Amino acid sequence: PRKIIIDTDPGQDDAAAIMLALASPELEVLGVTAVAGNVPLALTARNAGIVTEICGRSDIAVYAGADRPLARKLVTAEHVHGKTGLDGIDLFEPARPLETVHAVDFIIETLRREPAGTVTLCPLGPLTNIATVIERAPDVVERIKEIVLMGGGYFEGGNITPSAEFNIYVDPEAAKIVFGTGVAITMMPLDVTHKVLTTRVRVERLRANGNRPSVAMADMLEFFERFDEEKYGTDGGPLHDPTVIAWLIDPGIFSGRSCNVEIETGSDLTLGATVVDWWKVTGRTENAFVVRDVDADRFFDLFIERVGRL
Ligand code: BDR
Ligand code: CA
Repeated sequence: PRKIIIDTDPGQDDAAAIMLALASPELEVLGVTAVAGNVPLALTARNAGIVTEICGRSDIAVYAGADRPLARKLVTAEHVHGKTGLDGIDLFEPARPLETVHAVDFIIETLRREPAGTVTLCPLGPLTNIATVIERAPDVVERIKEIVLMGGGYFEGGNITPSAEFNIYVDPEAAKIVFGTGVAITMMPLDVTHKVLTTRVRVERLRANGNRPSVAMADMLEFFERFDEEKYGTDGGPLHDPTVIAWLIDPGIFSGRSCNVEIETGSDLTLGATVVDWWKVTGRTENAFVVRDVDADRFFDLFIERVGRL
């Protein structure tokens, strides 16, 4: 199986990504690292432990990382995810305590220990932890197999400002570092995730699996989609983060192209914008595979079947 580290700020859709990964034999989750994002770090770290426990996988260690962006005040998204970050289910204190090692140290140590080119990083929140790894231990950069991340938006615009997607907006300086390292990056922007809609029919199919993770996820999605339904006028809301995991399992569900992506860190108006040179009008080096389309039915077939296995 492919070795991954999930760096996350749960978040109902982060929880969906963790579940999909833990249900999939193609992937080996080496650890889950938490970052401040949707809600403050104490909550994202706890939520990660709750999700692994709901999956019956308390063997998975959770490490807490950065509690704020590199250079800015933390912006959170309780308006989307609720006060706890995982509104929709009854929360509890996870049985397995958080690791005492910092997330950044865990990622660095893991990359040094595992054979070079075998570990994929899956960031699902602001890129603070990943940028800190790159700055603190430049030697590990070439040992990363690939970074597959949820973030950005180009044709679709932004969701936290007209120009910026939440994960990139919260820590644009971190995103700039990550996109500037030369590591292979695959990016799942809003252009894709806004096509992955949690319709009533899909959520009910998931619930009908009947196992604890499926029912918990259906409950979470019912909370989560309320916000997006009102906002976007669609049946169901976008399910962002599990696209990252689905890509690793079955990239044939998606399509996109390699291009140059730069991050805006200067302008107040467009802070955190991902400027994608889709039409290759600059000579700038291609630094990311930007996914733009998805077969949402195939995605949900995969997602529902896999979470049903847990
Ligand atoms: C991203 O922001 C968060 O609210 C979601 O978990 C997802 O990672 C979408 O913009
Ligand atoms: Ca997230």
